[in-house]
Amino acid sequence: MSGAGAPHQDRASAGDPIADFCEKHPYPPPVEDLDGYRARWSDPAVRRAEHHLLFPDRAFTGELDALVAGCGTSQAAWHAIRWPAGRVVGIDVSATSIRQTAELKRRHDLGNLALHLVAIEDVARLDRQFDLDVLNRVSSFFRYLSRFDQVVFDLSVTQP
Ligand SMILES: C[S@@+](CC[C@H](N)C(=O)[O-])C[C@H]1O[C@@H](n2cnc3c(N)ncnc32)[C@H](O)[C@@H]1O
Repeated sequence: MSGAGAPHQDRASAGDPIADFCEKHPYPPPVEDLDGYRARWSDPAVRRAEHHLLFPDRAFTGELDALVAGCGTSQAAWHAIRWPAGRVVGIDVSATSIRQTAELKRRHDLGNLALHLVAIEDVARLDRQFDLDVLNRVSSFFRYLSRFDQVVFDLSVTQP
């Protein structure tokens, strides 16, 4: 879901076999509770250390724009918890995964998290720039492996 509105949708769910597979096998298994994770990340020193690992040349503010591409059922929520002063966008082709993440967003009041039912190949449609692109355990699913380089390029040019 984008803010309070409905999920942005394009060809992600239009009878695509990979989207169908991911719809039937959402990953990872549902997470009920992120409170322990939030407690761990509430320590500013943890955030600061992570920031300096990611951006050794930037002063720490806690603000960043992060894209979690192929976010699955929970990864975007984890990142929204990590960066309460940032803005996190999760995209996925699986409506089930987006729905489960939306439930975590609701349960944990993650106002800094936006969700879109969008394929990674269509990321440019978001027309957003990100400081951090997170892409874990997704590449093997790409429909168009020949487009992988283009996808990585599209993701990287979204960075300022
Ligand atoms: C193995 S899961 C990994 C989920 C998450 N990244 C994690 O590490 O917990 C792969 C996810 O990528 C999504 N996915 C696969 N191909 C995609 C694509 N072309 N665009 C967006 N999401 C995609 C699937 O729907 C699935 O939710």
